[in-house]
Amino acid sequence: MLCCSAGFRIPPQLTKNKALLIFPSRPAALTLTQPNNKHKHKAFQIHSLMEVNTSHSNSGLDFLSKKPYSPPSWASHISPIPSHTFSLGHLPTPIHKWNLPNLPNNTEVWLKRDDLSGMQLSGNKVRKLEFLMADAVQKGADCIITIGGIQSNHCRATAVAAKYLNLDSYLILRTSKVLVDQDPGLTGNLLVERLVGAHIELISKEEYAKIGSVALTNTLKERLIKEGRRPYVIPVGGSDSLGTWGYIQAIREIEQQLHSGAGKVKFDDIVVACGSGGTIAGLSLGSRLSSLKAKVHAFSVCDDPDYFYDFVQGLLDGLKAGVDSRNIVNIQNAKGLGYAINTAEELTFVKEIAATTGVILDPVYSGKAAYGLLKDMAENPKKWEGRKILFIHTGGLLGLFDKVEQIAPSLGKYSRMDVCESVPRKDCIGKMF
Ligand SMILES: Cc1ncc(COP(=O)(O)O)c(C=O)c1O
Repeated sequence: MLCCSAGFRIPPQLTKNKALLIFPSRPAALTLTQPNNKHKHKAFQIHSLMEVNTSHSNSGLDFLSKKPYSPPSWASHISPIPSHTFSLGHLPTPIHKWNLPNLPNNTEVWLKRDDLSGMQLSGNKVRKLEFLMADAVQKGADCIITIGGIQSNHCRATAVAAKYLNLDSYLILRTSKVLVDQDPGLTGNLLVERLVGAHIELISKEEYAKIGSVALTNTLKERLIKEGRRPYVIPVGGSDSLGTWGYIQAIREIEQQLHSGAGKVKFDDIVVACGSGGTIAGLSLGSRLSSLKAKVHAFSVCDDPDYFYDFVQGLLDGLKAGVDSRNIVNIQNAKGLGYAINTAEELTFVKEIAATTGVILDPVYSGKAAYGLLKDMAENPKKWEGRKILFIHTGGLLGLFDKVEQIAPSLGKYSRMDVCESVPRKDCIGKMF
């Protein structure tokens, strides 16, 4: 029996993954166009010629195409309504039961696999980018500016999405004072960003705190305009009112999955990590307006709940939603030691969940949110008894590569294979030596 100090145990009988997949995603989509630098704008013309009307086509041939957007009927009164989206994610993402150990009586946890929304673009950010990139293209941008932490999943997803659409990306990445003048390396998200040719500008945490993300992106924007570029700025985490549509649309997707799925399940709660606020704004508004009516619980991994209630309120007001954030989402602190800093227990938890259920959580977002959820369940089991919970796995796997040294001591053993000299050679396919 394995034990974490959060108060839950992982019994040995759960060391097999018994996850039950009931809503498989459709097959991976295909790229239709290969934009090239000489024909920057041609690519957009091709995309706009391929407009498709369905929100999720099953052919897989609409990947990277621009589609007109019409909101779900229950969201038609909120505004502004985006006119278009770019199909960037592999959607719908699957939902399956997650056999977590030691849940309160009759509690069920299900997983919405937004970590499987793509490979390079994986995670929650792709849903926001579907709307934000369509806006950037609509406005005639030739490059995207965004900002985040040194291992920002959002910046990585933006850099990839931009390149798919033949746009350049400029990323302002926050790092420590001692590292700000050094090569940022190639770990995790940085490797992907640098492979797709993102322009990376480093800023220290102190400078970031003093100047703020808006002034920093504006400074870069002015510089690029002077150089003759047409930049489009995406704020931290893609969390503005337009990006909020990503998770309003995700609620529509969940509604449709539940409607058409074999397993008749009605969720009481939705649980998710909160880092910049856009995901919970969309989920909580969508859940309230749609037939889902699940209670949204957010586990904040950086700022405090009060900050996020106010920030989410701003996003909701920007959509003229007419609802109070405090009435539609419950935000709890799961920051622990601080943003992107993990305790040994949190990383052991990530490891044990992977080893018992096959699901790999990222250490910065879903890892902390799931840790916070199970801790809360262990401390307040009555609160969760008998409830059906949908946990949204928001991706971020690449962030785990930044933690290899810290997580290594809890990982499995290896040994040299024992072969005796007398084993005769036999070849099969792929003779290598
Ligand atoms: C993997 C991952 N999960 C969750 C979040 C939180 O989402 P949001 O920024 O919309 O609060 C982020 C980004 O901040 C993220 O990168």
